[in-house]
This record gives sequence, structure tokens and C-alpha cells, in this order.
Amino acid sequence: MPPEMSTPAFSSPPPADGGGASVAGIIVGLVVLVIIGIISLTCAKMTTRAIVSDLQARVAPPPPPTLNVVRVWEIDVPTMERFLQELAKDRPVRFTAQQLCSFTTNYSTRLGSGGFGIVYKGQFPNGVQIAVKVLNRSLDRGAEQQFMAEVSTIGRTYHINLVRLYGFCYDHIMSALVYEYMENGSLDKHLFSDTQAIEWVKLHEIAIGTAKGITYLHEECEQRIIHYDIKPGNVLLDANFFPKVADFGLAKLCNRDNTHVSSTGYRGTPGYSAPEFLLKNYSITHKCDVYSFGMLLFEIVGRRRNARVGHAEEEESMDWFPKYVWDEFEKGELGAMILSCGIEENEREKGERMAMVALWCVQDSPEARPPMSAVVKMLEGGVEVKPPPKPFHYLYSVGVNVLNILNSSDCTSSEGTNTYWYKETTPVMAKYEIQMASSG
Ligand SMILES: Nc1ncnc2c1ncn2[C@@H]1O[C@H](COP(=O)(O)OP(=O)(O)OP(=O)(O)O)[C@@H](O)[C@H]1O
Ligand SMILES: [Mg+2]
Repeated sequence: MPPEMSTPAFSSPPPADGGGASVAGIIVGLVVLVIIGIISLTCAKMTTRAIVSDLQARVAPPPPPTLNVVRVWEIDVPTMERFLQELAKDRPVRFTAQQLCSFTTNYSTRLGSGGFGIVYKGQFPNGVQIAVKVLNRSLDRGAEQQFMAEVSTIGRTYHINLVRLYGFCYDHIMSALVYEYMENGSLDKHLFSDTQAIEWVKLHEIAIGTAKGITYLHEECEQRIIHYDIKPGNVLLDANFFPKVADFGLAKLCNRDNTHVSSTGYRGTPGYSAPEFLLKNYSITHKCDVYSFGMLLFEIVGRRRNARVGHAEEEESMDWFPKYVWDEFEKGELGAMILSCGIEENEREKGERMAMVALWCVQDSPEARPPMSAVVKMLEGGVEVKPPPKPFHYLYSVGVNVLNILNSSDCTSSEGTNTYWYKETTPVMAKYEIQMASSG
């Protein structure tokens, strides 16, 4: 084979401009290669870091199930508004003792006090007004979980006739509850004042709203809540005198349903507590709230406290308004009695109805008391309230039997239809319906 035939077919042609140019080309090539290498290495590193952090985020344990701790003073106004709206669906917010101190300007305005603690006025940084109830610290220190569970239940119990719980504080110094502020305070202040500023029509609406709030607690919310302390002091009024029930769930939160029994065996507030509280080992049901609500209704009808204080003992026992209402009802004088309470003739029927519902609510036997949904129906009208039997036998006799005087099957069997307490009235037929019926 000739030597020229052995030259490889793909060998490079000799450079046209000599050896120097070829060296420079190699160097440039190498530099480009090095730059490309560095760039790809950096990119790979960044990608790896992103993947690792993503994986870390995915496998990281979920944050501990603590309630939201919000540093409220750091939040701007729109965020705060959103946060408050969120509360409607969310759990109540946990605040620190320092925050509450700041919200209440060092507890400078006291709104009142009751069996659970002292209530102060305050406001969030965005101007939303609040009421802070600092609880008497009888809670045992290990009770934090229980406290949070109860607060969580109260916070999730939402109805337009219930005072909203915004949040709470629980630490080694104090425990407190943060509520929406109710501009017009509690019903008792208006009901028993000499000025009688709230007109009867409004009082009637307040009674219905309060009954709806209790109905929700008893019959509509996830877990039945017995209030144990229904009274005018626990019906709060907003700027428009719209009523909201306060302090529901507190009895359980503060173990008051089990432990706060006075030396006389009474629980709740005397004058409003049902007779079954007087009897040992008698089961207490939600119907104790119905009894207390009945007492509240009497006070609305009479615009006075049921028992007047400051009288001589024998006079005081005679001046008990609920007994007076029963006596007048028995004599057929309820209408006249309503007018003597200052209710006008055109509202007399509503007043009579309210008095009869009150008499039903305070029946000795818990079973004979209507469920709160039936109370709402009767107060609203549109049904005929049946004549209530005589209550208050327990005042004259002692023992469990007095609470069972009624054959309980009379009313328990009709619980579904409520026919024991009221009769559905025949709806008035519309004109066209009558025409249709007669032409058919
Ligand atoms: N959310 C609120 N907004 C405005 N005022 C309030 C609020 N909560 C309570 N108050 C005021 O504070 C007073 C005291 O309330 P508190 O609940 O401590 O006592 P009470 O209702 O009289 O008794 P109890 O301890 O049996 O509920 C009320 O009468 C009311 O005037
Ligand atoms: Mg209260």
C-alpha cells in the first residue's frame, strides 16, 4: 500500500497560520470548559440545597398543638380585623398576662365582680373594646389542659345571643377570659333601676333573645352546655340593647357545678336556683336552667326583684312575686295584674303569655318544665299556651316526691311534639286557599 494511502482520513489539516494560534485556541477552550464546570457545580449545589430543605420541611414534625399566641401589639389594623373575623371560626386566642395588662391599661376600669372574679374594661390595639374577667385562682396548677379544653369549647360555641369569647390567659400568675364588650352592661341594672329606661316591647324581645341563646346551649350546640346561673346579671346588652347570655360554660371551667355548693346546699344564685339543688342525690339536668329562666321572666313582667329585701321577715315571705302571679292567675285576674305592672293594654296579651310561660318554667318537676325551644315558641306567640299547673309545692313539703308529683310520662312522652305545654293554633287560611278549597 502506497504511503499516502495510510494517512488517516480524519487527521486535522495543518494550521494555516502556524503553531502559536493553535495554543491560544486550546487555552480559550480550556477556560470556557472551566467556567462551564464552575457554573454547573454551583447550580447543582443550589438545587441540592433546595431539595434538602424541602425534604426537611416535609419530614419535620408538625408544630406543637398550642393555641395561637399572638403578639397583638405588633399587628397592624387590617391584620387585626382579619384576626378578629377569624375568631368566629377559630379557637380562642391565647394572650399573655402582660398583654392583658396593656389592653386594660393596668386594670384601671372595673366593670363589676361576681362569683368567678372581677371584670375589667379594656381594648385591643385596633380599638375593639373588650371585657377581661380575671378568674379567682382556685384552679389547681395541673389543670391547664382541662382549662384549655373547656375554653376551647366555650370559644367554639357561637350564637348571636351568646357573649363571644375572644381569648384567654393562663399562666403561673393568673387565668382570665377575654370577652366582647357589651356597651349596655347587664339586664339587672336596667330592669331594677328607677328610671325604667327600657320599654316593655324591648324587654319582650330581650326575653325571646335570651331564651334563644339558652336553647342553643341546650339543644343545638355540639355538646350540651348547662349554664347553672341564669339570671338578669348574666344577660348582657349591646349598644342596641340586643341581649346575649354571658358566662356559659364557666361553671364547668371553674368546677363550680361540682364544688361550689353553699352550706345550705344551694348552687348558683339564690332565688334563681331550681328546687332540685336542695335535694341530695337528685340528678341535675338542663331543666335547672329552665327554672332559672322562669324566675327571670317573672322579674321582667314585674320589673322588680322577685323577693324584695329589707322587709320584715314575715312580710318578705309574703312579698314573693312569683307566688303573687300564681295567685292572680288562679283567680283569673292575670290580665289585671299585668296592667298593674305598668304594661299597656295593647301589650297585655304578651304580658299574660310571658307570665304563663314563667309559671310553666318554674314547675317543681323538671320534666314538667318545657324545653327551651318550646319556651321560645310560646313567647313568640302563634301557639296557645296551656294553663300551667300549680308550682311551688316544694316550698311547703320536703323530699324527692314533691319534685315528682306529676306523672312524668305525661310530658316526657310528648316531648317531641310539646303538646303538653301548648296547642298549635290553626293557621288562618289565606283567601285564595279558601277559594281553592271550596272550588275543589
Ligand atoms: N362582656 C361584658 N361587657 C360589659 N360588661 C360586662 C361584661 N361581662 C361582665 N360585665 C359587667 O361586670 C359585672 C360583673 O360580672 P360577673 O359575671 O363577674 O358577675 P355576675 O354576673 O353578677 O355574677 P356571676 O359570677 O354569677 O356571673 C356584670 O354585672 C356586668 O355589669
Ligand atoms: Mg356574670
